Amino acid sequence: MSEKETPGIRVAVIGAARGIGREVAVELAKSGARVAAIDLGEDNFELGYQLGRIDTADFGDISKSVLRIAADARSETEMTRAAAEIKTAFGGLDQLVVAAGGIVGGATLLQSDPASLSLALQFNLLSLHNSVRALVPLIYDSPLLGLRRIVAVASVAGSRPLAGIGAYVAAKHAVVGYLKTLALELAEVDITVNWVSPGSTTTAILVRSAELYGLEGVDDFAIHHPLGRLLAPSEVAAGVIFLLSAAASAITGTDLYIDAGMHL
Ligand SMILES: NC(=O)c1ccc[n+]([C@@H]2O[C@H](COP(=O)([O-])OP(=O)(O)OC[C@H]3O[C@@H](n4cnc5c(N)ncnc54)[C@H](O)[C@@H]3O)[C@@H](O)[C@H]2O)c1
Repeated sequence: MSEKETPGIRVAVIGAARGIGREVAVELAKSGARVAAIDLGEDNFELGYQLGRIDTADFGDISKSVLRIAADARSETEMTRAAAEIKTAFGGLDQLVVAAGGIVGGATLLQSDPASLSLALQFNLLSLHNSVRALVPLIYDSPLLGLRRIVAVASVAGSRPLAGIGAYVAAKHAVVGYLKTLALELAEVDITVNWVSPGSTTTAILVRSAELYGLEGVDDFAIHHPLGRLLAPSEVAAGVIFLLSAAASAITGTDLYIDAGMHL
Protein backbone atom coordinates (compact mmCIF):
# COMPACT_ATOMS: atom_id res chain seq x y z
CA MET A 1 0.00 0.00 0.00
CA SER A 2 1.40 3.44 -0.85
CA GLU A 3 0.38 6.92 0.25
CA LYS A 4 -1.88 6.95 -2.80
CA GLU A 5 -3.88 4.16 -1.18
CA THR A 6 -4.21 6.04 2.09
CA PRO A 7 -6.03 9.19 0.99
CA GLY A 8 -6.56 11.68 3.74
CA ILE A 9 -3.57 10.54 5.79
CA ARG A 10 -2.55 13.51 7.95
CA VAL A 11 1.09 14.56 7.75
CA ALA A 12 2.96 17.53 9.25
CA VAL A 13 6.09 18.65 7.41
CA ILE A 14 8.45 20.94 9.32
CA GLY A 15 10.71 23.06 7.10
CA ALA A 16 8.20 22.86 4.24
CA ALA A 17 8.63 26.28 2.60
CA ARG A 18 11.34 25.22 0.19
CA GLY A 19 14.00 22.64 -0.65
CA ILE A 20 13.60 19.01 0.43
CA GLY A 21 10.70 19.70 2.84
CA ARG A 22 8.71 21.53 0.17
CA GLU A 23 9.23 18.65 -2.26
CA VAL A 24 7.96 16.17 0.34
CA ALA A 25 4.90 18.34 1.11
CA VAL A 26 3.99 18.71 -2.57
CA GLU A 27 4.36 14.99 -3.33
CA LEU A 28 2.28 14.03 -0.31
CA ALA A 29 -0.48 16.51 -1.15
CA LYS A 30 -0.56 15.28 -4.77
CA SER A 31 -1.09 11.76 -3.40
CA GLY A 32 -4.16 12.87 -1.46
CA ALA A 33 -2.57 13.35 1.96
CA ARG A 34 -3.70 16.21 4.19
CA VAL A 35 -0.52 18.22 4.71
CA ALA A 36 0.29 20.76 7.40
CA ALA A 37 3.25 22.74 6.05
CA ILE A 38 5.21 24.45 8.82
CA ASP A 39 8.03 26.94 8.37
CA LEU A 40 9.13 30.37 9.54
CA GLY A 41 6.69 33.26 9.31
CA GLU A 42 9.19 36.08 8.84
CA ASP A 43 12.58 36.81 7.31
CA ASN A 44 15.44 35.15 9.17
CA PHE A 45 19.16 35.69 8.46
CA GLU A 46 20.54 34.36 11.75
CA LEU A 47 22.66 31.76 9.94
CA GLY A 48 24.13 34.28 7.49
CA TYR A 49 21.76 33.38 4.65
CA GLN A 50 18.04 33.78 4.18
CA LEU A 51 15.83 30.95 5.46
CA GLY A 52 12.43 30.08 4.01
CA ARG A 53 9.03 31.64 4.77
CA ILE A 54 5.80 29.70 4.78
CA ASP A 55 3.60 32.64 3.71
CA THR A 56 5.48 33.08 0.42
CA ALA A 57 6.23 29.38 -0.24
CA ASP A 58 5.41 28.24 -3.77
CA PHE A 59 3.34 25.06 -3.60
CA GLY A 60 2.13 25.33 -7.22
CA ASP A 61 -1.03 23.43 -8.09
CA ILE A 62 -1.60 22.05 -4.62
CA SER A 63 -1.29 25.43 -2.91
CA LYS A 64 -4.92 25.48 -1.77
CA SER A 65 -4.86 22.00 -0.28
CA VAL A 66 -1.92 22.65 2.06
CA LEU A 67 -2.46 24.01 5.56
CA ARG A 68 0.25 26.65 6.04
CA ILE A 69 1.40 27.26 9.59
CA ALA A 70 4.00 29.86 10.53
CA ALA A 71 6.11 28.65 13.45
CA ASP A 72 9.76 28.63 14.46
CA ALA A 73 10.51 25.05 15.45
CA ARG A 74 13.12 26.30 17.92
CA SER A 75 10.25 27.63 20.01
CA GLU A 76 8.34 25.19 22.20
CA THR A 77 5.50 27.71 22.49
CA GLU A 78 5.17 28.14 18.73
CA MET A 79 5.23 24.40 18.10
CA THR A 80 2.58 23.84 20.77
CA ARG A 81 0.40 26.40 18.99
CA ALA A 82 1.09 24.68 15.65
CA ALA A 83 -0.03 21.35 17.13
CA ALA A 84 -3.26 22.95 18.33
CA GLU A 85 -3.91 24.36 14.84
CA ILE A 86 -3.38 20.91 13.30
CA LYS A 87 -5.70 19.29 15.84
CA THR A 88 -8.40 21.83 15.04
CA ALA A 89 -8.00 21.54 11.26
CA PHE A 90 -7.34 17.80 10.85
CA GLY A 91 -8.64 16.33 14.12
CA GLY A 92 -5.22 14.76 14.74
CA LEU A 93 -2.04 13.61 13.00
CA ASP A 94 -0.71 10.33 11.60
CA GLN A 95 2.82 11.13 10.42
CA LEU A 96 5.58 13.70 11.01
CA VAL A 97 8.40 14.77 8.69
CA VAL A 98 11.13 17.04 10.08
CA ALA A 99 13.20 18.62 7.31
CA ALA A 100 13.96 21.91 9.08
CA GLY A 101 17.65 22.60 9.48
CA GLY A 102 20.37 25.02 8.64
CA ILE A 103 24.11 25.15 8.04
CA VAL A 104 26.75 26.90 10.11
CA GLY A 105 30.43 26.79 9.24
CA GLY A 106 33.29 28.40 7.43
CA ALA A 107 35.64 27.83 10.37
CA THR A 108 37.54 25.04 12.05
CA LEU A 109 36.17 23.88 15.38
CA LEU A 110 38.91 25.74 17.22
CA GLN A 111 37.89 28.92 15.42
CA SER A 112 34.16 28.35 16.06
CA ASP A 113 32.81 30.47 18.89
CA PRO A 114 30.20 29.05 21.30
CA ALA A 115 27.47 31.08 19.61
CA SER A 116 27.94 29.32 16.26
CA LEU A 117 27.85 25.88 17.91
CA SER A 118 24.72 26.91 19.77
CA LEU A 119 23.07 28.11 16.54
CA ALA A 120 23.83 24.81 14.82
CA LEU A 121 22.28 22.90 17.71
CA GLN A 122 19.23 25.15 17.86
CA PHE A 123 18.39 24.97 14.16
CA ASN A 124 19.05 21.23 13.76
CA LEU A 125 18.54 19.49 17.13
CA LEU A 126 16.30 21.75 19.20
CA SER A 127 13.90 22.25 16.28
CA LEU A 128 13.64 18.46 15.93
CA HIS A 129 13.03 18.01 19.66
CA ASN A 130 10.30 20.66 19.79
CA SER A 131 8.62 19.17 16.72
CA VAL A 132 8.62 15.73 18.29
CA ARG A 133 7.41 16.93 21.70
CA ALA A 134 4.58 19.01 20.25
CA LEU A 135 3.35 16.66 17.52
CA VAL A 136 4.04 13.07 18.55
CA PRO A 137 1.29 13.17 21.22
CA LEU A 138 -1.16 13.67 18.33
CA ILE A 139 0.29 10.63 16.53
CA TYR A 140 -0.28 8.52 19.67
CA ASP A 141 -4.02 8.93 19.04
CA SER A 142 -3.84 8.07 15.32
CA PRO A 143 -5.89 4.96 14.49
CA LEU A 144 -3.61 4.11 11.53
CA LEU A 145 -1.62 1.36 13.24
CA GLY A 146 1.26 0.30 10.99
CA LEU A 147 1.41 3.75 9.37
CA ARG A 148 2.31 5.92 12.33
CA ARG A 149 5.63 7.38 11.30
CA ILE A 150 8.34 9.93 12.00
CA VAL A 151 10.88 10.62 9.25
CA ALA A 152 13.62 13.21 9.65
CA VAL A 153 16.22 14.64 7.30
CA ALA A 154 19.68 14.17 8.79
CA SER A 155 22.82 14.34 6.60
CA VAL A 156 25.95 12.49 5.64
CA ALA A 157 27.38 15.02 8.11
CA GLY A 158 25.52 12.99 10.76
CA SER A 159 27.87 10.04 10.39
CA ARG A 160 31.21 11.36 9.12
CA PRO A 161 33.48 14.34 9.81
CA LEU A 162 33.63 17.22 7.34
CA ALA A 163 36.37 19.78 8.05
CA GLY A 164 35.24 23.41 8.03
CA ILE A 165 31.62 22.77 9.03
CA GLY A 166 32.25 21.10 12.39
CA ALA A 167 29.40 22.81 14.25
CA TYR A 168 26.94 21.45 11.67
CA VAL A 169 28.60 18.01 11.78
CA ALA A 170 28.31 17.93 15.57
CA ALA A 171 24.66 18.98 15.45
CA LYS A 172 23.77 16.36 12.80
CA HIS A 173 25.57 13.63 14.77
CA ALA A 174 23.44 14.70 17.75
CA VAL A 175 20.34 14.51 15.54
CA VAL A 176 21.19 10.91 14.59
CA GLY A 177 21.76 9.90 18.23
CA TYR A 178 18.45 11.53 19.13
CA LEU A 179 16.59 9.68 16.38
CA LYS A 180 18.10 6.29 17.27
CA THR A 181 16.92 6.70 20.86
CA LEU A 182 13.50 7.95 19.75
CA ALA A 183 13.11 4.88 17.53
CA LEU A 184 13.81 2.64 20.51
CA GLU A 185 11.43 4.52 22.79
CA LEU A 186 8.51 4.74 20.34
CA ALA A 187 8.69 1.19 19.00
CA GLU A 188 6.45 -0.09 21.80
CA VAL A 189 3.69 2.32 20.77
CA ASP A 190 3.93 1.31 17.11
CA ILE A 191 5.44 4.56 15.84
CA THR A 192 8.47 4.03 13.60
CA VAL A 193 11.33 6.53 13.41
CA ASN A 194 13.68 6.66 10.43
CA TRP A 195 15.80 9.27 8.69
CA VAL A 196 17.42 10.00 5.38
CA SER A 197 21.01 11.20 5.06
CA PRO A 198 21.35 13.27 1.90
CA GLY A 199 24.58 14.14 0.17
CA SER A 200 24.93 17.46 -1.65
CA THR A 201 21.44 18.42 -2.83
CA THR A 202 20.63 21.47 -4.92
CA THR A 203 18.94 23.71 -2.35
CA ALA A 204 19.74 26.99 -0.59
CA ILE A 205 21.84 25.15 2.01
CA LEU A 206 24.19 23.94 -0.72
CA VAL A 207 24.56 27.45 -2.11
CA ARG A 208 25.48 28.61 1.38
CA SER A 209 27.89 25.67 1.79
CA ALA A 210 29.69 26.66 -1.43
CA GLU A 211 30.08 30.19 -0.03
CA LEU A 212 31.42 28.85 3.28
CA TYR A 213 34.03 26.76 1.44
CA GLY A 214 34.88 29.59 -0.96
CA LEU A 215 33.93 27.51 -4.00
CA GLU A 216 32.91 28.95 -7.35
CA GLY A 217 29.55 27.21 -7.22
CA VAL A 218 27.60 24.18 -6.01
CA ASP A 219 28.76 21.98 -8.90
CA ASP A 220 32.16 21.72 -7.20
CA PHE A 221 30.58 19.41 -4.59
CA ALA A 222 29.80 16.69 -7.16
CA ILE A 223 33.38 15.45 -7.02
CA HIS A 224 32.65 13.98 -3.55
CA HIS A 225 29.86 11.78 -4.96
CA PRO A 226 30.97 8.52 -6.59
CA LEU A 227 28.02 8.89 -8.99
CA GLY A 228 29.63 12.17 -10.06
CA ARG A 229 26.58 14.42 -9.85
CA LEU A 230 24.55 16.40 -7.34
CA LEU A 231 21.16 15.28 -6.04
CA ALA A 232 17.79 16.85 -6.79
CA PRO A 233 15.50 17.58 -3.81
CA SER A 234 12.94 15.26 -5.42
CA GLU A 235 15.39 12.35 -5.12
CA VAL A 236 15.72 12.91 -1.39
CA ALA A 237 11.95 13.41 -1.03
CA ALA A 238 11.40 10.04 -2.73
CA GLY A 239 13.29 8.33 0.10
CA VAL A 240 11.22 10.18 2.71
CA ILE A 241 7.98 9.15 0.94
CA PHE A 242 9.16 5.53 0.87
CA LEU A 243 9.84 5.59 4.63
CA LEU A 244 6.33 6.98 5.20
CA SER A 245 4.71 4.32 3.05
CA ALA A 246 3.24 0.99 4.14
CA ALA A 247 6.08 -0.72 2.26
CA ALA A 248 8.41 0.44 5.06
CA SER A 249 6.25 -0.96 7.86
CA ALA A 250 9.01 -3.14 9.39
CA ILE A 251 11.73 -0.49 9.24
CA THR A 252 12.62 1.56 12.30
CA GLY A 253 15.84 3.16 13.50
CA THR A 254 17.26 3.12 9.99
CA ASP A 255 19.43 5.67 8.23
CA LEU A 256 18.72 5.75 4.48
CA TYR A 257 21.69 7.25 2.64
CA ILE A 258 20.58 9.22 -0.39
CA ASP A 259 23.98 10.56 -1.27
CA ALA A 260 25.14 9.28 -4.66
CA GLY A 261 27.59 7.08 -2.75
CA MET A 262 29.24 9.82 -0.67
CA HIS A 263 29.28 7.70 2.51
CA LEU A 264 31.40 4.99 0.87
N1 LIG B 1 20.90 20.43 0.63
C1 LIG B 1 21.84 19.60 1.05
O1 LIG B 1 22.89 19.41 0.40
C2 LIG B 1 21.63 18.83 2.33
C3 LIG B 1 22.52 17.77 2.60
C4 LIG B 1 22.33 17.04 3.77
C5 LIG B 1 21.31 17.36 4.65
N2 LIG B 1 20.47 18.41 4.36
C6 LIG B 1 19.41 18.70 5.32
O2 LIG B 1 18.17 18.72 4.64
C7 LIG B 1 17.24 19.47 5.41
C8 LIG B 1 16.46 20.37 4.47
O3 LIG B 1 17.34 21.38 3.97
P1 LIG B 1 17.32 21.88 2.47
O4 LIG B 1 18.54 21.39 1.82
O5 LIG B 1 16.01 21.61 1.85
O6 LIG B 1 17.55 23.48 2.72
P2 LIG B 1 16.55 24.72 2.70
O7 LIG B 1 17.26 25.80 3.40
O8 LIG B 1 16.09 24.96 1.32
O9 LIG B 1 15.30 24.23 3.55
C9 LIG B 1 15.28 24.21 4.95
C10 LIG B 1 13.93 24.77 5.40
O10 LIG B 1 13.86 24.61 6.83
C11 LIG B 1 13.32 25.81 7.34
N3 LIG B 1 13.69 25.99 8.73
C12 LIG B 1 14.95 26.11 9.21
N4 LIG B 1 14.91 26.33 10.53
C13 LIG B 1 13.61 26.33 10.88
C14 LIG B 1 12.94 26.51 12.10
N5 LIG B 1 13.60 26.74 13.24
N6 LIG B 1 11.58 26.46 12.12
C15 LIG B 1 10.89 26.25 10.98
N7 LIG B 1 11.48 26.07 9.78
C16 LIG B 1 12.82 26.11 9.74
C17 LIG B 1 13.90 26.90 6.46
O11 LIG B 1 13.20 28.12 6.59
C18 LIG B 1 13.80 26.27 5.09
O12 LIG B 1 12.57 26.54 4.47
C19 LIG B 1 18.05 20.20 6.46
O13 LIG B 1 17.89 19.55 7.71
C20 LIG B 1 19.49 20.05 5.99
O14 LIG B 1 20.40 20.09 7.04
C21 LIG B 1 20.61 19.13 3.22
